[in-house]
Amino acid sequence: MSQSVAHPAAGSSSCDADFATFLKEHPAFEQTRALDELRAKEFSRLDRLRHVYLDYTGGGLYGDCQVRSHAEFLLDRVLGNPHSSNPTSRDTTEACEMCRRHVLDFFNASPAEYAVIFTANASHALKLVGESYPFEEGDRLLLTFDNHNSVNGIREFDRAHGAQTTYIPVVPPDMRIDEQALDEQLELARSCNNALFAYPAQSNFSGVQHPLEWIERAQTHGCDVLLDAAAFVPTNRLDLGRWRPDFVALSFYKMFGYPTGVGALIARRKALEKLHRPWFAGGTISVASVQADTHYLAAGEAAFEDGTLDYSNLPAVDLGLTFIEEVGLERIHERVSLLTEWLIDQLLALRHGNGAPLIRLYGPKGCEGRGGAVTINFFRASGEVIDHDLIEEEATKERISLRTGCFCNPGAGEMALGISRNELVTCFSQSTADRMTYDAFRRCIDGKSTGAVRVSVGMVSNFADVHTFVQFARRFLEP
Ligand SMILES: Cc1ncc(COP(=O)(O)O)c(C=O)c1O
Repeated sequence: MSQSVAHPAAGSSSCDADFATFLKEHPAFEQTRALDELRAKEFSRLDRLRHVYLDYTGGGLYGDCQVRSHAEFLLDRVLGNPHSSNPTSRDTTEACEMCRRHVLDFFNASPAEYAVIFTANASHALKLVGESYPFEEGDRLLLTFDNHNSVNGIREFDRAHGAQTTYIPVVPPDMRIDEQALDEQLELARSCNNALFAYPAQSNFSGVQHPLEWIERAQTHGCDVLLDAAAFVPTNRLDLGRWRPDFVALSFYKMFGYPTGVGALIARRKALEKLHRPWFAGGTISVASVQADTHYLAAGEAAFEDGTLDYSNLPAVDLGLTFIEEVGLERIHERVSLLTEWLIDQLLALRHGNGAPLIRLYGPKGCEGRGGAVTINFFRASGEVIDHDLIEEEATKERISLRTGCFCNPGAGEMALGISRNELVTCFSQSTADRMTYDAFRRCIDGKSTGAVRVSVGMVSNFADVHTFVQFARRFLEP
């Protein structure tokens, strides 16, 4: 573990040779070479600062031009609070509405059918649905084991109203959903007044892309469908003309890095009518009275946008969408698929001297129906797991940004790592405190890893990035 990793900026000869072989085996990569030029022009800070960025599922990166164009936009305008009709307010309103139209357009969503509600992030969008969904006794919330905690958290709302939460398992090692269990649960949902099915279009744990066909299947069983698209949309086209979920949640920084602090709930107008907001705020009502103790919610998206929108940043969302359109989502998708395929093949081929595999992959081996998040653990030749914290520590020394832990997706983590319900219940019953630290949790699930290592590629990942990671992984091989 002592030899240092050649940084891609140094143009190592092993990287060049492997790249030549890679190109022979993946000629389609040539069609994505414009992304290398884009990286050199718009993301030069990556190589200048010697970063190997492999956490695109955590957050996307922005191009220099996005920041410059946004600064120019701001410097050329006087933006007032959009809640009035004075000239500066009107300019702001026009900029916000332009951005709203652009979001609809980007996702091919008909404005007659869909509304865009601007939120702080995907979690906020998910919470808006959870807190407003009309759960009652006898209703159901269907969740896949593979869900981000910001989706899992919706179960607190449904339980508070006496409804039932049911989880549909994922099956290791591929981490796809047990479709028979899904069908059985959808059948049971038929008899409910209200049933909400929430799942990720792409797993932030395993990279699995769960079928968008489930949207219609669930709807024909009477379910409303909440699609968590946060990890999917940065490198895949979500066509809302073709797929018609009731609710879609996403964060824009995951798509194009800047601005942070803005997400969206894209919702069918019909589905919005079903939601009951638990409160009202500035901007969400048409009329409210103190003496008569009455309020009337505003129509459409306004009813869900509490207070003042992040109006100086919305124009940057507009510019970010334009940036992605110009770069080409299909090109990004292709590059991400090819790099992911190579990365997985290389990692799976790494063997210790005694033949034992170095890594275990949690997710599909092939590129069909998966995105660019590759989640693994490292093992010694003896079969003992290497602590993911150690991997992160070593990667940090090489300026490799990756992610470790369970990535806020405990259900996928528990299934992938083989942690049983009994082990978890025993662990939690030993604790008398109201709070538990992650370290305490790790100690009580003794002898097993409670997390993994995730590397994820995105818009301007290049061959050198994934090559550097494979070279880094080799250091853990035992002779
Ligand atoms: C699949 C998925 N859903 C939801 C979220 C939550 O996104 P945010 O933290 O931007 O609210 C994430 C973040 O990583 C995610 O990957």
